[in-house]
Amino acid sequence: MALERTFSIIKPDATRRNITGKIIDRIESSGLRVIASKRVHLTREQAEGFYAVHRERPFFGELVDFMISGPVIVQVLEGENAIAKYREVMGATNPADAEPGTIRKDFAESIEANSVHGSDGGDTAPNEIKYFFEDGEIVG
Ligand code: PPS
Repeated sequence: MALERTFSIIKPDATRRNITGKIIDRIESSGLRVIASKRVHLTREQAEGFYAVHRERPFFGELVDFMISGPVIVQVLEGENAIAKYREVMGATNPADAEPGTIRKDFAESIEANSVHGSDGGDTAPNEIKYFFEDGEIVG
């Protein structure tokens, strides 16, 4: 199978608790490679643009407020079947529903402070990567 790329955010609840290394260990242990990474503090405009698809949902304001409440780590991950594999490694959106051994089951605090974001499909991953990274910043 060809290598695939996905986009990841390690969210403010994880940077606040200083557990980014533990999360990156889960990512690398799954066989995914971190081929781009930077720590950024999102502006409100950046967060609103990134989550624009959820603009009409009742939690949109809270989601944006949370995502700008502290620094995040944005990453590009590469591997076989990377999009689906990272979704599996992350676990369900709500940690209460996540499988044991997933990042969200083991680290997330709530459905909002759920530690990680990963692209949900082949149509969104390339756009999410481009939203944060220039080609030259990605070293596969
Ligand atoms: S998913 O994975 O896109 O199917 O999940 P979804 O349920 O559609 O949620 C999309 C993102 O919104 C976040 N979310 C919330 N934030 C705050 N409050 C509530 N109640 C809430 N429900 C969902 C969820 O963590 C998803 O964020 P990302 O960064 O896309 O994982």
